[in-house]
Amino acid sequence: MHQKYLPSFAKRNGRITNSQKRNLELFKSFEIKNLEDLKYSLKKYSKCALEIGFGNGENLINQAILNPNTLHIGSEVYKSGIGSLIGAINQKKLSNIKIYQNDVRDLFDREPEEIFDLIIIICPDPWPKEKHHKRRLINKEFLQMIFNFMKENSYLHISTDWQNYAESIEEDLRVFKKFSKIKNSIITRKELTKFERRGISEERKISVFDFKKSI
Ligand SMILES: C[S@@+](CC[C@H](N)C(=O)[O-])C[C@H]1O[C@@H](n2cnc3c(N)ncnc32)[C@H](O)[C@@H]1O
Repeated sequence: MHQKYLPSFAKRNGRITNSQKRNLELFKSFEIKNLEDLKYSLKKYSKCALEIGFGNGENLINQAILNPNTLHIGSEVYKSGIGSLIGAINQKKLSNIKIYQNDVRDLFDREPEEIFDLIIIICPDPWPKEKHHKRRLINKEFLQMIFNFMKENSYLHISTDWQNYAESIEEDLRVFKKFSKIKNSIITRKELTKFERRGISEERKISVFDFKKSI
């Protein structure tokens, strides 16, 4: 699928339900292909949030309901999740969500520009085996990449249910220095996501990081 970066997403069997398939027929009206498309859609909104790896979209939907004046961009590579998200968007009659169906790092492969007020990453693929750690999405290079596209005083919210990944994220953020830790969560999370619930049911602790871009 993608050549420039080592894939940060795991292989899936690609099964898509009939309703997801029907929803995907509407994909074009939600799609953004690049930052130019995004900026065009942003004209009507005061803020822009990006959720990377939205899975089935449950948090993205909640954020879009809670923040109607924000344009919410969801980035996901799997069609099944995109199909579920489109179904929920239509059911809730939401107009403030757009979808980027690709490796999010491709969206940022251009001149930096301060666009996002908030970036959310919930349960990035953990790649628990040490030999796979290089596939993890969040590392120093990735933090620099997203930093370049965040506005001054914008926020970064990350959660993971894998202790070892949490430790490496914490260390990368500490060394990176351009984000400062904030005490209280900057987003209202109505409920845990599917992967957070799975983590808890498998007795893993959820670590949450809330940071502010401060120059
Ligand atoms: C473990 S799942 C978590 C899904 C959801 N956030 C949740 O908590 O239920 C991680 C998701 O991130 C997506 N993902 C991984 N790397 C990505 C990338 N480079 N760009 C966009 N999405 C990515 C995967 O396809 C997968 O759906």
